[in-house]
Amino acid sequence: MKAELEPRLAGEPERLEIVRMNAADIAEVTRIEQTSFTTTWPTDAFYNELTTNKLAHYFVGRIGGKIVAYGGIWVIFEDSHVTTIAVDPGFRGRKYGEIMLLHLLDEAIERGATWMTLEVRESNVAAQTLYRKYGFTTVTTRKGYYSDNNENALVMWAGNLKGDLYRSRLNALRAGLQ
Ligand SMILES: CC(C)(COP(=O)(O)OP(=O)(O)OC[C@H]1O[C@@H](n2cnc3c(N)ncnc32)[C@H](O)[C@@H]1OP(=O)(O)O)[C@@H](O)C(=O)NCCC(=O)NCCS
Repeated sequence: MKAELEPRLAGEPERLEIVRMNAADIAEVTRIEQTSFTTTWPTDAFYNELTTNKLAHYFVGRIGGKIVAYGGIWVIFEDSHVTTIAVDPGFRGRKYGEIMLLHLLDEAIERGATWMTLEVRESNVAAQTLYRKYGFTTVTTRKGYYSDNNENALVMWAGNLKGDLYRSRLNALRAGLQ
């Protein structure tokens, strides 16, 4: 019997294909969300974001057609905010979260943002390390921000996104991913 050839070389990482999220993706995104966060968005939240919030931009990352990552931003003139980002637990540690964050930054900058903010749980070391890699620093702490366990949120910020220094940082990180 003729052996089936793999379309890609063995050991070569699969490329994350990032496209805009649409309503048909919500079920898959919700499945990842439920395995990624202790408190989840109400069932219609993604739908409302996609259909009624003009400031919102959501994306999914696919590997072989399957959604393994997603992320979203709001862009309000020069200000942008990461509303959510997650990778399917079975696909973590393969740079897909980083590629998604880079995509969110690119989209925000393209839409005119010069800074980006987000909230992250104080205990979420993985996400904080990722954000710090991309130049985010903690600007304040919101005490008891998360209602499920009263955990504090760190508010992180990256600024001067269009400046030469930040552009070179992004380019170096982008090159490292290729
Ligand atoms: C945070 C999250 C998106 C990272 O995605 P990922 O695909 O696993 O991470 P990547 O493989 O892209 O890692 C990129 C960088 O993130 C950081 N990072 C990722 N996992 C980490 C871990 N377990 N510990 C420390 N740093 C980590 C590192 O800086 C890493 O860069 P490096 O490999 O050069 O050290 C993922 O852990 C996740 O979905 N978590 C649950 C949802 C969540 O917490 N979202 C953030 C809400 S604020």
